[in-house]
Amino acid sequence: MSRTARAVIDLDVTGDVISRHLYGHFAEHLGRCIYGGFWVGEDSELPHTDGIRQDVVDALRALEVPNLRWPGGCFADEYHWRDGIGPREDRPTMVNTHWGDVVEDNSFGTHEFMRLCELLEADPYIAGNLGSGTVREMSEWVEYLTRDGDSPMARLRRENGRAEPWRVPFWGLGNEAWGCGGTMSARHYADEARRYATYCKDHGDNRLYRIAAGAADDDLRWTRALMEAVACLGCGGSDRPVFQAVSFHYYTHSGEGINTVSATDFTDEQYLRTLAHAFAVERVIAGHVAVMDAYDPDGRLGLVCDEWGTWWSVEPGTNPGFLYQQNTVRDALVAGVHLDVFHRHARRLTMANIAQTVNVLQAMVLTDDDGGLVLTPTYHVFEMNKGHQDATAVPTHLVDAPALAVDDSSVPAVSMSASVRGGTALVSVTHTAADAPLDLAIDLRGRAVTVRRARVLTADSAAAFNDAQAPDRVAPRPLDVALEGGLLRLTLRPHAFATIELELREG
Ligand code: AHR
Repeated sequence: MSRTARAVIDLDVTGDVISRHLYGHFAEHLGRCIYGGFWVGEDSELPHTDGIRQDVVDALRALEVPNLRWPGGCFADEYHWRDGIGPREDRPTMVNTHWGDVVEDNSFGTHEFMRLCELLEADPYIAGNLGSGTVREMSEWVEYLTRDGDSPMARLRRENGRAEPWRVPFWGLGNEAWGCGGTMSARHYADEARRYATYCKDHGDNRLYRIAAGAADDDLRWTRALMEAVACLGCGGSDRPVFQAVSFHYYTHSGEGINTVSATDFTDEQYLRTLAHAFAVERVIAGHVAVMDAYDPDGRLGLVCDEWGTWWSVEPGTNPGFLYQQNTVRDALVAGVHLDVFHRHARRLTMANIAQTVNVLQAMVLTDDDGGLVLTPTYHVFEMNKGHQDATAVPTHLVDAPALAVDDSSVPAVSMSASVRGGTALVSVTHTAADAPLDLAIDLRGRAVTVRRARVLTADSAAAFNDAQAPDRVAPRPLDVALEGGLLRLTLRPHAFATIELELREG
């Protein structure tokens, strides 16, 4: 038997602009994300542009990736950028101590990453090394990338084949400084972030958005320390804080911790607990926002969730240090729930980066070395939702929405958000119940509409995934919806994600 739910959307009540940067991505030197994922090298027999895998670029371009964070993660705080420039055969090697203890040959470095961003038409978000690098090293990387004219680093860049400076809008001041980024206390890191940020200069007309490495989950103490650091001393006589954003990381699992439960083999309870954990990101964001509001009521600083997504145990037989996991309908729903929450917090939340783009954690695409590429269910959520990028959020109200019992708590059966851009509205709905369909009636108020397209993403099981044998097992299909007056009716199968694109009519 179906459950029923009712919702109201106020299409004429505009909220905050949903920055396209909430749809950002993350690529670390970890497992097969860079090597074998993005980078195959100029001698590869696979189709590529300047050594960058063409099928991966083509797939990601369809998502309109707004920004890409690199080179880590934990790797960022042991990465020395000068090792990754100049002739590849002369580049020194290093040990990637965090991820598999493998030898990194630095063949993918600054120029290769900036080329990748050009191919994707994505803004670069570079995470500088604060944990084991010097202030000078970070300062010179900024100069190398962004300075025109005659300067030591601009000259070095030209010697390496790039005449013009690049535009680099986003700059990370280390990563997870409480852990792999230096095991620092919050106050100590806050001082360090201020010091490093001071020497990351705006060269020419390049304006850096400096992002302080933030909390794990709901560690509000960490956010408070960063906000205090900026509020007390950060402005240094100017109106601009010394860093412009603070980040936090939030990984989803089934309550048993990261890296413990299979990506594809899970119980009904583990499924529901995972969704509960995904919904909990709203509480975490609201907590950070409350702290930021207290110190910065004018909203000068942004909140950035620069790592989020599911973290399962690795696929059997793969290197435990490579974090390679499959991606199911369950992951797609986790993404749907997060993106709804992000839309609701678009006032303060300026950027988010799912971890990670290719072959690592909750990836968009999975590749093999023979040229195979599979689009994951999460990829399809990002594709179906891309109309929210830079759109204006409109309020959605769930009334009479069911909840699903798990342990001594409950999980909403429905998550929803909507936005308007130009003459189009986009409605996203995530239906989490695995045991029955949902009859949903949405009262569309404020504007007359017609339905342009409705699509649904689901499969027979929440554990269904795509692979070489069945690459489209989980792929968007047309969804039947009925519009009578302003009432939109649809039925969603269990564990489904849907988008409805509406054309706003004049008058
Ligand atoms: O995304 C994998 C790792 O998770 C990152 O390197 C680190 O920042 C986080 O702990």
